[in-house]
This record gives sequence, structure tokens and C-alpha cells, in this order.
Amino acid sequence: MKLSGKDLAFAGGAVAVLIVVVLGTGKELGPNVPTDAGHQAFFSQLEQGQRRVEVEQGCRQCHPLADLPEAHPHKEECMVCHQPS
Ligand code: HEC
Ligand code: HEC
Repeated sequence: MKLSGKDLAFAGGAVAVLIVVVLGTGKELGPNVPTDAGHQAFFSQLEQGQRRVEVEQGCRQCHPLADLPEAHPHKEECMVCHQPS
């Protein structure tokens, strides 16, 4: 099989679209958590092998779901969107 210039242009376009989509998704994720010890401690628990779904239950003690802005996205899995700084 021989690749024509058109095929290469198509492949290049597909790669470009993919990059835009990946970067765009990154932007949708939430703001980083503050750098204080309290927040960072949650992420060290993850490094110690604790399950994220259990660790992030702790977020709700201080950030009850009802207190999040109304426009806040999909509310579970806090630590996927909110990363340590
Ligand atoms: C002990 C209480 C407490 C816990 C537990 C807690 N937070 Fe926070 N969080 C706060 C307070 C207070 C602030 C605001 C003060 C500040 O910005 O430093 C804050 C700020 C934030 C912000 C910044 C919001 C902004 O405007 O930038 C995010 C994001 C956040 N918390 C997410 C989380 C996540 C995710 C978890 C769980 C991994 C969590 N918090 C656990 C008390 C807490
Ligand atoms: C799908 C991604 C996503 C998930 C999951 C998510 N967040 Fe957020 N969060 C965001 C975005 C985006 C913002 C910024 C929204 C805005 O500025 O209106 C935000 C904002 C916040 C803020 C700041 C609110 C403020 O008053 O400025 C806090 C606190 C927060 N999230 C906590 C949490 C907690 C706790 C959870 C888990 C129960 C969670 N988030 C799950 C994306 C997410």
C-alpha cells in the first residue's frame, strides 16, 4: 500500500484534532486544591495505596455537595478533577 499526500494530510488532521480534544478536556477539570497540608494529605493517602473512592469521601465533610456551586459538574470523584497544586 502506498500513502498518498492526501492520506498523510488526513492522518495529520486526525492527530491535530486529538491534541485539541485532549488539551480541551484538561481545561474542563477543576481548579487545583489549595496547597495547605489538609488538602495535600488526601493525595498522600492515595500514594500510600488507599482507594480514591474512599479517600475522597472525606472531602464532603468540608465541602458538602449542597455547598458546591449550582453549575458544578458531575459531583462524584472529586480527586479526578481537583489535583494537588
Ligand atoms: C478540613 C476541611 C476541608 C477538607 C477535608 C477539604 N477541604 Fe477543600 N477547602 C477547604 C477550605 C476551608 C477551602 C478554602 C480555603 C482556601 O482556598 O485555602 C478549600 C478550598 C478548596 C478548593 C479550592 C476552590 C477554589 O476556589 O480554588 C478546592 C478545589 C477544594 N477545596 C477541593 C477539595 C477536595 C477535592 C477535597 C478532598 C480531597 C477537599 N477539598 C477537602 C476545606 C477543606
Ligand atoms: C468533572 C470534574 C469535577 C468533579 C468530579 C468535581 N469537581 Fe469541583 N469543580 C470543578 C470545576 C470545573 C470547578 C469550577 C467551577 C466554577 O468555577 O464554577 C469546581 C469547583 C469546585 C470548588 C470551588 C467552588 C467555589 O465555590 O468556587 C470546590 C470546593 C469543589 N469544586 C469541590 C469538589 C468536591 C468536594 C468534589 C467531589 C464531591 C468535586 N469538586 C468534584 C470540577 C469538578
